[in-house]
Amino acid sequence: MNQRTFVTPFAERFELRVPIVQAPMAGGATTPAMVAAVSNAGGLGFLAGAALSPEKIRSEVEAIRALTSRPFGVNLFVLEPAAPDDATVRRALEAIDSVRADLGLAAGQPLERYAPDFRAQLEMLVELRVPVVSFTFGLLSSDDVARFHAHGQYVIGTATHTAEGIAWRDVGADAIAAQGAEAGAHRGTFIGAFEDALVGAMALVPQLVDATGLPVLAAGGIMDGRGIVAALALGAQAAVMGTAFLTCEESAIPQVWKKRVRSMSDTSTTVTRAITGRHARGIRNPLMQRLGEAAEKIAPYPVQNALTQELRQTAARAGNGDYLSLWSGQGAPLGQKRAENLSAKELVAQLDAEWQTVVSRIAALRE
Ligand SMILES: Cc1cc2nc3c(=O)[nH]c(=O)nc-3n(C[C@H](O)[C@H](O)[C@H](O)COP(=O)(O)O)c2cc1C
Repeated sequence: MNQRTFVTPFAERFELRVPIVQAPMAGGATTPAMVAAVSNAGGLGFLAGAALSPEKIRSEVEAIRALTSRPFGVNLFVLEPAAPDDATVRRALEAIDSVRADLGLAAGQPLERYAPDFRAQLEMLVELRVPVVSFTFGLLSSDDVARFHAHGQYVIGTATHTAEGIAWRDVGADAIAAQGAEAGAHRGTFIGAFEDALVGAMALVPQLVDATGLPVLAAGGIMDGRGIVAALALGAQAAVMGTAFLTCEESAIPQVWKKRVRSMSDTSTTVTRAITGRHARGIRNPLMQRLGEAAEKIAPYPVQNALTQELRQTAARAGNGDYLSLWSGQGAPLGQKRAENLSAKELVAQLDAEWQTVVSRIAALRE
């Protein structure tokens, strides 16, 4: 990093005026309008591709490219095809059905498909030559990473502890997204127990910098200019911000979810696997509580996720936040001072002014 200007090689490579990456957020937040607005404003916008079919990924990427000529990224979940046995699905449905009944829904049924095909999604990212690709929940093979490189694509792997960072380095990843325990939504953990991998960003980022020697992007709890500069001070080359963008105008999540993020406190969230079968951080609500009571019935991701989807969509249509997955990071209250429904462009402009002010203060201390 250039000591005077705080310009990092990652920021230089992608010509970022502000050293921030807008985190990919599955569930409707990271629309093409948001991704393009962030990239146009001088950050790096990121589309969440995990829940999308390959054809939908194509149309969203085309929509982004119609709005910006700047670099952007697409993120996927590394998943094996799900083939749950009948007993697992039946057990999960027993618990889910009692919650469905609250919303007047009939008993749920096993599904034909529990998630889009990961290999087909990955092929689409190669075909579309998406400039930056990132992955969570698992590890790519070195052959897959080499294929992206052969097409000039930049590969980021998510790590929640150092062994995962080293695994990504060993398959040839270009950079590591360090996901601290503060982060909203799913934990990316893929080596060892999730409980052992709730490492806060303050401890995680410098350890990943030292252990991997790769560019590290810091994620978890970063909401303003202070957080951005803190991430850089820890050795990160950019700050990854999800929750900060979740309530922006371009985010297509239900209004009731935005409202709860804008009124929660630092202790409002917890980590649960009850809603999707994979540990994720969200605001406590009756859905989390009810499904969590029958822990032994929860199916693994993506089965539980797919089985609770209709229920959550019904709640979303009714504006009922009690039965939604209200993913959010612990830093959300830090965003509550900003205007409601701020545009992503305006948020990037505010973050730009804030981090430069912090940098000037530090420079003034040295004089
Ligand atoms: C609503 C929501 C959805 C998310 N979806 C994804 C996703 O699809 N893929 C991914 O790699 N990370 C996802 N994340 C995690 C972010 O990449 C990032 O780690 C996190 O937002 C950083 O912490 P923060 O929320 O405190 O800013 C999501 C986060 C949120 C809040």
